[in-house]
Amino acid sequence: MENLVLYRKYRPKTFAEVAGQKHAVRTLTHALAMEKTAHAYLFCGPRGTGKTTIARLLAKAINCESLKQKFEPCNKCSSCLEINESRSLDLIEIDAASNRGIDEMRELRDGIKFSPVRLKRKVFIIDEVHMLTREAFNALLKTLEEPPAHAVFILATTEIHKVPQTIISRCQRFDFHKLTLPDISERLAWIAKEEGVKISKEAIDLIALNADGAQRDAESLLGQVMAMEDKNITLEEVQTILGTTDISSVLKMADFIIEKDIKSAIILANKLVEQGYDLAQFAKSLSNYFRKMMIFASFGATGSAESYGSQNRQLIAPELTEDQFRVILEQGKNVAVKDFIRILRSLTQAEYEIKSAILPQLPLELAIVELAGE
Ligand SMILES: Nc1ncnc2c1ncn2[C@@H]1O[C@H](COP(=O)(O)OP(=O)(O)O)[C@@H](O)[C@H]1O
Ligand SMILES: [Mg+2]
Ligand SMILES: [Zn+2]
Repeated sequence: MENLVLYRKYRPKTFAEVAGQKHAVRTLTHALAMEKTAHAYLFCGPRGTGKTTIARLLAKAINCESLKQKFEPCNKCSSCLEINESRSLDLIEIDAASNRGIDEMRELRDGIKFSPVRLKRKVFIIDEVHMLTREAFNALLKTLEEPPAHAVFILATTEIHKVPQTIISRCQRFDFHKLTLPDISERLAWIAKEEGVKISKEAIDLIALNADGAQRDAESLLGQVMAMEDKNITLEEVQTILGTTDISSVLKMADFIIEKDIKSAIILANKLVEQGYDLAQFAKSLSNYFRKMMIFASFGATGSAESYGSQNRQLIAPELTEDQFRVILEQGKNVAVKDFIRILRSLTQAEYEIKSAILPQLPLELAIVELAGE
C-alpha cells in the first residue's frame, strides 16, 4: 500500500471537509464571503485538531482566483495549486519551536515589507508561537501593531497560557477543540473506504477512542493498522496492534475484583500476559472502567439505564454499548463508596508500578490479593 501517511494525504482541501471546529469554520467562511478577513488570527487548542489545516485553507481562500460559494478554495487555480504543493513563496510557515529567537522575528519584520511575489496576500503561519523568546515576542508585536495591508498572520499554539496578552489582544482568537468520537470515526470510515480497505465499525471506534480527540493520531493509528494487516481489518487485529484488550476482559476482571474472586482474577491476568497484551494498558483500561462505574453509581438516579441521560453517558462512556452500559450500572450497585476509593487507589498504584516491574503481572496480582483481603 503506497503512501501510508494518511494524515498528509487526507488533509482537508475545503472547509466543508473539516470535521468539528464548527465555530471557527462558520466565522471564517462568513468573513471570507463578506471579504472582511482580519490581519491576524490566533488558533489555539490541542494538537491534531485542525489548526494548521484551517490556517492553510484560509491562506488558500484569501488568495484563490476563483472561490467557490464565495469562500471555498477552488484547488485548481495557480495560487491554490502552489499552496497545495507547498511551493508558494508567499505562504511562509515558521515553526517557532525551532526558530525561537529575535533574529528570526527581525528577519520576518524586514521581509514583510516586500509585496507578495505572486499571490494577492502574503500569509505567515507561525506554529507553536508560545515557544518564542520574550524579545522575539516583542518584535512580533511591533509587526502585529502595524501590519502592511498585504500581510496576514495566523499564529497557532497548543499552550495559549504561554502567549503574552499583548499578542492575544492583537489577534482574532479561535479555540479549537478535541474532536468527538463520532466525528473521528466518520472520517476514518471515509478514509478507509477511499483506500479500499474493509474495517469493522468496532475496529474504527476503538481506533477513534485511542486517538483521544486528535484526528491526526487517529489517522496515524489507522495507517499503522493498514500497514500490518490485510484489506479486511477486524476488531481483534486492532486490539493486538494497539496492545489494548477487548472491553470484555476488563469487564470480567472488574467482576472478579468486586466478587473478591482471587483465583479467577489472577488466572485472567496471567492469560492476558501470555497472549501478549500490554498489561499496563490493561490496568489503565481497568481503572478507567472502575472510574466510570463510580461516576455512574454516584450519579445515583433510579438505577435504570435511561435515567442517566444519554448526554451524560455520551460524555463519560461513549465507547460502551447499550449492553455494556447496563452491565456497568449493575456492577456499580454492588460496590460501596469506600470500596470504589480503595479499588481505584490500588489499581492506579498497580498501573504505575507495572511500567517498571520485571514481572508485569505482579503489581496487578498484589492489588487483586490486597483488595480481596479487606
Ligand atoms: N478538524 C479536522 N478535520 C479533518 N481532519 C483533521 C482535522 N484536524 C486534523 N485533521 C487531520 O489531521 C492532520 C493534522 O492536522 P493539523 O491541522 O496539522 O493539526 P494541528 O495543526 O491542530 O496540530 C490533518 O492533515 C488531517 O488529516
Ligand atoms: Mg499544526
Ligand atoms: Zn483557487
